[in-house]
Amino acid sequence: MSQTPFKDLRFGIGSWNMGEMPARAKEEQRAFEFALDLGIRLIDTAEMYGDGGSEQVIGAALAASSVKREELVLVSKVLPSNASKRGTLLACEASLRRLGVDYLDVYLLHWPGRHPLAETLEAFITLREKGFIRAWGISNFDLEGLGRWQKAESAAGVADACATNQIYYALSARNSEFDLLPTMKAQSMPLMAYSPLGSGQLMRDAKLRSIAEKHGLSPAQMAIAWTMRDPNVISIPKSVRPDRIEENFKASQITLSAQANADLDAAFPPPSRKMPLAML
Ligand SMILES: NC(=O)c1ccc[n+]([C@@H]2O[C@H](COP(=O)([O-])OP(=O)(O)OC[C@H]3O[C@@H](n4cnc5c(N)ncnc54)[C@H](OP(=O)(O)O)[C@@H]3O)[C@@H](O)[C@H]2O)c1
Repeated sequence: MSQTPFKDLRFGIGSWNMGEMPARAKEEQRAFEFALDLGIRLIDTAEMYGDGGSEQVIGAALAASSVKREELVLVSKVLPSNASKRGTLLACEASLRRLGVDYLDVYLLHWPGRHPLAETLEAFITLREKGFIRAWGISNFDLEGLGRWQKAESAAGVADACATNQIYYALSARNSEFDLLPTMKAQSMPLMAYSPLGSGQLMRDAKLRSIAEKHGLSPAQMAIAWTMRDPNVISIPKSVRPDRIEENFKASQITLSAQANADLDAAFPPPSRKMPLAML
């Protein structure tokens, strides 16, 4: 993965449902500062989160931190409704302003929408030429959608430039293992696993809790380490609580035993046929 804009990072922190309430902004900023102090260098955000508020909170944390910009991998996303050529250019510049940085490492189309992919791609190419983004990618694209995106890239003369497809991938959402994940793996395209804790719901799953207890891990650590058992997967759990951020970060160092993986496979079986892409 060393050729990718992810710089070999396989663990990051998410930021959905953040930047929504001014009263919580300081706590959220401190959470990102804590994550940076801990050594987390990959941050995932989007113009959609808190209507820009999430990017602002992250920007405040970056401004207060001594971590150098070049050590970080910042990922943001354009909303499909903004993904015309002009709309994408404007959205990216607004994200950069809120984050207080000169460039994004990876800029994603949040999900497929009404604007032609070729138009969004044209904007991504312009943004890369201007130095506003280092790379682009997509999110919530199923196998067929990935094919359409890659066809647009070939037509634009930028084949194989897509840095990632960020999708819901968790013990509770293994659909992509049937075809999408193996295809991306064969192309050495990292998969960004969003909601690795099922947006928190997995934490209440009795099967996961009992398997985690058997193997001496917390349910969150088990769920995160499981997503990372495949070296092609990057996991981006979100938390505003320092104790959980540390717990989650530690999970990125854990290799599950064959028995733990077998127990999880039995409780959360992989798909045996093609299924629609899971989305949150
Ligand atoms: N591309 C997309 O369409 C898309 C969609 C969804 C998400 N995402 C990205 O992926 C990131 C992660 O997904 P997510 O936020 O949906 O969910 P998640 O990371 O699966 O789970 C987050 C939830 O779990 C709780 N939590 C975190 N660590 C925990 C721990 N150690 N023990 C118990 N509970 C814990 C958090 O609460 P506290 O914060 O209170 O700790 C929060 O409620 C997002 O933040 C976003 O950046 C992208």
